[in-house]
Amino acid sequence: MEKKNSVYIATSLDGYIADRNGGIAWLDSIQIPENEDMGYVNFTNEIDAMVMGRYTFETVLGFDVNWPYKKPVFVLSNSLNEIPESHRKKAYLVKGTVPQILEQIHNQGCTRLYIDGGVTIQSFLKEDLIDEMIITFFPILLGGGPTLFSDLPGTLQFELVESKVYFNQLVQQHFRRNRKD
Ligand SMILES: NC(=O)c1ccc[n+]([C@@H]2O[C@H](COP(=O)([O-])OP(=O)(O)OC[C@H]3O[C@@H](n4cnc5c(N)ncnc54)[C@H](OP(=O)(O)O)[C@@H]3O)[C@@H](O)[C@H]2O)c1
Repeated sequence: MEKKNSVYIATSLDGYIADRNGGIAWLDSIQIPENEDMGYVNFTNEIDAMVMGRYTFETVLGFDVNWPYKKPVFVLSNSLNEIPESHRKKAYLVKGTVPQILEQIHNQGCTRLYIDGGVTIQSFLKEDLIDEMIITFFPILLGGGPTLFSDLPGTLQFELVESKVYFNQLVQQHFRRNRKD
């Protein structure tokens, strides 16, 4: 079975994935037609499950919408003891180091994973466990907030697979990890 860890995320020009208050209203700063998903459905069709950090999970729970995910969601947290009753058949708590977390998830038959949340993505990058990243850049400077990237123990080379411009405003870049070096 193919093992792959992928990122699909939006960022500000200055590298933040939410504003200082954890808000993502800036994602509405560009009008996106309802029938344009910017590759999201194709991307999620190719994954078995999501892996998200506790903050992202709590942010989604706070939205006044139905649960938006069709695939199982594994929530990383050392502080949560359980998933709220309302989401127990949709989301599952996992703990441990990143390799231990991956082993638990792979053992459940989920090997193509969508990794979400800044700290979470960073913890996978620290172990060189991200294989591809689809990043949509919004033309905005947020000035602060949770970051997409942080310090790493070393250099990680990626290659650009594709670059698309949406609505003359958003640049979406698809990067694949180049481990040939
Ligand atoms: N722009 C976008 O497309 C986008 C996408 C996703 C999220 N967001 C936004 O980003 C913000 C959340 O991102 P974030 O960087 O603050 O946090 P996050 O990655 O969602 O969550 C961080 C938390 O996840 C847990 N965690 C992460 N890695 C772990 C590991 N290896 N082992 C155990 N636990 C681990 C820890 O929880 P404990 O403290 O419980 O141990 C950690 O504090 C939200 O505001 C959300 O709205 C934006």
